[in-house]
Amino acid sequence: MAKRNILITGGAGFIGSHVVRLMVNKYPDYRIVNLDKLTYAGNLANLVDIEDKPNYVFEKADICDYEKMCELFDKHEIDGVIHLAAESHVDRSIKDPFTFARTNVMGTLSLLQAAKVKWEGNYYDKLFYHISTDEVYGALQFDGTLFTETTKYDPHSPYSASKASSDHFVRAFHDTYGIPTIVTNCSNNYGPYQFPEKLIPLFINNIRHRRPLPVYGKGENVRDWLYVVDHAHAIDLIFHKGKIAETYNIGGFNEWKNIDLIKVLIKTVDKLLGNPEGASLDLITYVTDRAGHDLRYAIDSRKLKNELGWEPSLQFEEGIEFTVKWYLENQAWMDNITSGEYEKYYESMYKNR
Ligand code: NAD
Ligand code: TYD
Repeated sequence: MAKRNILITGGAGFIGSHVVRLMVNKYPDYRIVNLDKLTYAGNLANLVDIEDKPNYVFEKADICDYEKMCELFDKHEIDGVIHLAAESHVDRSIKDPFTFARTNVMGTLSLLQAAKVKWEGNYYDKLFYHISTDEVYGALQFDGTLFTETTKYDPHSPYSASKASSDHFVRAFHDTYGIPTIVTNCSNNYGPYQFPEKLIPLFINNIRHRRPLPVYGKGENVRDWLYVVDHAHAIDLIFHKGKIAETYNIGGFNEWKNIDLIKVLIKTVDKLLGNPEGASLDLITYVTDRAGHDLRYAIDSRKLKNELGWEPSLQFEEGIEFTVKWYLENQAWMDNITSGEYEKYYESMYKNR
């Protein structure tokens, strides 16, 4: 296998850490450079099991810092980029849209420009792979339709608008400068190491501590859930076998109404904690709906299956039980985040570098 130097941005976050782990373990001849700003969502504790591997390097940097991106392209002779770094939480984007435009749009542009300048038109064996979301397609009704790769973009939240914009920049850099790019749009991920502001880890932790479970609106919104390791395997496959300039949708064919999913979480946590069945149902608390809350997301990932042979490997029941167990068994990981300790720790660790 050829040696490669791959820059993975956002590798200290939820999905990024699974992608870094997979690539570091599977490709000992590659150099995997994890570039992360370590925002509130970035956590090097997600990668303790691989941090000492010889083919792994961590670089603390902001993707918006164009000069630094150029320096890192040179330093590590980067020939492939898997770009995951982003602000990723819809509720935060409603409160602070500027940060989303800065990181997701300007940060992506800064990386693209660095790739363009540093690769200098020599695009042989180069790839800029941009990880995006199904949220760029907007909202579906309850009519069985699915998002395909040709669904028109119709983002509604500042988060999805910023991701849509970054997707457009990636495609524009291919069309204008010939940069080899691929974009994938994935549905909601779940699994270990997800920051506990997102539905699944937040609710598991709240159930454990008998805190209210804030269900937005009537809990009728639908999401299509994919186990994060299945996403990481899809990314690996597409990075190596995907066609340049293509878009691939990645999804679980696994739609759940929020309230039904929440009941599965309650049942699983109660079972694993030894509580009587239904003991935590009283924690369900209906709250004011999220502004602009998209009704339904659902992905048609048949193109990826037909062209590259990818399918989700895990049944949802299996994945959710494993995930709940993981959060219950890794309470220290959760407590470090929720107490804010890990942020202070890493700030002091990197202050003098
Ligand atoms: P996350 O919020 O858990 O992690 C994001 C990471 O990016 C963090 O480690 C953070 O420190 C880093 N980061 C943020 N701003 C940065 C900057 N300016 N410079 C460098 N690093 C920065 O996000 P996630 O859920 O792992 O999502 C990763 C990617 O996948 C995002 O692009 C997101 O849009 C996309 N995506 C996520 C989902 C999902 O369900 N979580 C679904 C589809 C697509
Ligand atoms: P989330 O995990 O934030 O992902 P996304 O908004 O990107 O789909 O939310 C998943 C669904 O759960 C979404 O429909 C909003 C809903 N939700 C709640 O009802 N309560 C909550 O506290 C959170 C965080 C989300």
